[in-house]
Amino acid sequence: MSHDQNPTAPRPASATSAQGDPAVVPRFAPVPAGRPRRRYAVVGTGHRAGMYVDAITGPHADVAELVAWCDTNPTRMAYYDAEVGRTLGLGGPAGLPMYGPDAVEAMVAEQHVDVVVVTTPDVTHAGLVARAQAAGADVVVEKPLTTTAAGARTIVDSVRATGRDVVMTFNYRYAPRNSTLREVIASGEIGDVTSVHFEWVLDTVHGADYFRRWHRQRENSGSLLVHKSSHHFDLVNWWLGDVPTRVYASAGLRFYGAANAAARGLGERPVRGTGVAGDPWSFDLTADPRLAALYLDAEHHDGYLRDRDVFAEPDGHAITIDDNMSLVVDYARGATMSYSLNAHSPWEGYTVAINGTRGRAELSVVERGVVVIDERGHVVLDPSATPETQAAKLAAEGIRPEGEHLIVQKHWEAATERPIPVGVGGHGGGDAILLMDVFRRDLRIGDDPLGRAAGYRDGLAAVAVGIAANESLRTGAAVRVADLGLGIELGAGPA
Ligand SMILES: NC(=O)c1ccc[n+]([C@@H]2O[C@H](COP(=O)([O-])OP(=O)(O)OC[C@H]3O[C@@H](n4cnc5c(N)ncnc54)[C@H](O)[C@@H]3O)[C@@H](O)[C@H]2O)c1
Repeated sequence: MSHDQNPTAPRPASATSAQGDPAVVPRFAPVPAGRPRRRYAVVGTGHRAGMYVDAITGPHADVAELVAWCDTNPTRMAYYDAEVGRTLGLGGPAGLPMYGPDAVEAMVAEQHVDVVVVTTPDVTHAGLVARAQAAGADVVVEKPLTTTAAGARTIVDSVRATGRDVVMTFNYRYAPRNSTLREVIASGEIGDVTSVHFEWVLDTVHGADYFRRWHRQRENSGSLLVHKSSHHFDLVNWWLGDVPTRVYASAGLRFYGAANAAARGLGERPVRGTGVAGDPWSFDLTADPRLAALYLDAEHHDGYLRDRDVFAEPDGHAITIDDNMSLVVDYARGATMSYSLNAHSPWEGYTVAINGTRGRAELSVVERGVVVIDERGHVVLDPSATPETQAAKLAAEGIRPEGEHLIVQKHWEAATERPIPVGVGGHGGGDAILLMDVFRRDLRIGDDPLGRAAGYRDGLAAVAVGIAANESLRTGAAVRVADLGLGIELGAGPA
């Protein structure tokens, strides 16, 4: 089973395959005979952990071994333990030791953990990275690296004190379309970059999902400008080979939440989606056995509701993030970016235009052209899986088909479309290639010409924009990244 995507995210582009194009899929040497596997522990056994668990027990089992779980919720740890037992054909649960969040140090010591994979809510990343490193482990951490300037300093201090490794898993870099745009810019054919225009739209399924659980509170996720946009800001830093210096932001909560629902006359809303029929805003956990097992069956431990209504804000669960965000960002070498993120679009995808001194490159991606509703009034997450439905026909016949186009046009020349190589796996073909780099980096044949492998400095440069944007929203003024107190000068020194 593949667990790579957020369950509400659009499914991988149809162009992905099991093989992949040699232009974007690196080659790796065989594992030297007798070399011991590295010992991995997973901290945070929610949805995203599945991608790493699958990788360690599947394609990378020859270099990696799972040795422990750590989570606040025993049911979620038990879910994965049973799944690993099934995957490995053990005839029962794997029986890996389980630890609570206070016992990260004990786990690393007792289980001789080499690498801790951190897949917990964003606000906990910095502390867990530092604790795992202090205990003697390297770390693989999901984006965003951290949500605040204080978290950035914690990580910088920890890396300096321990010399331990931090691998940032920026999977979007590995999507072949994004890698190809990097090649175009790095080749110099559009000249020096002068400005970037970047618009990302999240649809009423995937975008809505950030308003259902911990992400909806700024203190947990750093807002979508950190949680989600750090992917996008990392892409820009990497495409341009540059770092952000100044950010001005304007944003608002204009669609989700109780006040907006009342203003649009949506009436009384349920607290949660499970059990609600005929409402496209409701997310019913019983429709997906995996989500039911991970969240519904686990909520008696911690009260974590995965399916909160996007318009209901009961006490203690107010929405404090925005759903419409616009930024102006300056970069060290002189380019400016205009960026916007919308979280309630009828379709999902992005458009990025890079203006240069010799021409322009434009990447347009439709990840889901339409959100369709089935005859029971439920959202269809994957229309291609139900070809007989009216919904699937609508998606197939629509005028906004899923796809990706990279157009390059030099001054005085006609526009040309660049072929985008075939990737493997989810996230536009990025996840599977990323995982090769995470687990087999030391076996890579040849260098990393696109510089896709990312470390903590890249993670900091990506969250710097969102952290500065949050400060700009608070103060109403443009914010210099150098004034944030990240504990490091961006762009100085190796990643
Ligand atoms: N790169 C991507 O495309 C991508 C996609 C999805 C999620 N993510 C990232 O992965 C992370 C996890 O997201 P998710 O959707 O799986 O969230 P989730 O809520 O489903 O899972 C988080 C897990 O962490 C546990 N947890 C909470 N606090 C903890 C603590 N202090 N110590 C140990 N465990 C703790 C929770 O009980 C839960 O099991 C987030 O940082 C998110 O940004 C990245």
